[in-house]
Amino acid sequence: MTTIDARPLALDDNAADLLFRDARTANSFSDEPVTDEQLQSIYELTKFGPTLMNAQPLRVVAVRSGDAKNRLLPHMAEGNRAKTGSAPVTLVLGYDVDFHEQLDKTFPHVPGAKDRFPDEGVRHGIGRDNAFLQIGYLILAIRAAGLAAGPMGGFDREGVDTEFFPDGRTKSVLVVNIGNPGDNPWLDRLPRLTYDDVVTEL
Ligand SMILES: Cc1cc2nc3c(=O)[nH]c(=O)nc-3n(C[C@H](O)[C@H](O)[C@H](O)COP(=O)(O)O)c2cc1C
Repeated sequence: MTTIDARPLALDDNAADLLFRDARTANSFSDEPVTDEQLQSIYELTKFGPTLMNAQPLRVVAVRSGDAKNRLLPHMAEGNRAKTGSAPVTLVLGYDVDFHEQLDKTFPHVPGAKDRFPDEGVRHGIGRDNAFLQIGYLILAIRAAGLAAGPMGGFDREGVDTEFFPDGRTKSVLVVNIGNPGDNPWLDRLPRLTYDDVVTEL
């Protein structure tokens, strides 16, 4: 199979363009604010994405004030500082290594589910994997709100954890700028692998 016709999708073309085909990673942002209502609406979509045993390990710090931005910027890789400075809101994303403590609430039909995770090393793996899954949903939810996302892995995790997750139980994994695109926001679109490159049909 070499071509994929978009028409088999249930999603209409405008939504598919907004979420996927026309959506880009923004590298600069305008002054237009991101409202609390937009942030809440983004989370209200993100929360429905599936996670292992409904564990939902993702934790979010929304960095908006100048003071909080000044605490974040020194921990960003140099090439990520200007774009982070320009974004009206920057999300610092981590996982709760003690996510299992919520399982009585989030997986209530299996009493004692939380007791299945005594090994902290295992929890780090599950927490990180599932937080990244949730970040995928989050990026699509940001796009669904009509905003652009700029994910960044280039930052000092220890520094960010000390500054934003001082409780020690939350570990940062990614930082994501959100807002409306500013001047010259896009890099060239990079090639995507094809269906045949990626999928083996058996
Ligand atoms: C996990 C992750 C880490 C990334 N880290 C950085 C980063 O540190 N700095 C940066 O400028 N872009 C970073 N990016 C952006 C990617 O390079 C970009 O999303 C990708 O090339 C697709 O670009 P497009 O959406 O414009 O097609 C990161 C993206 C992801 C998902």
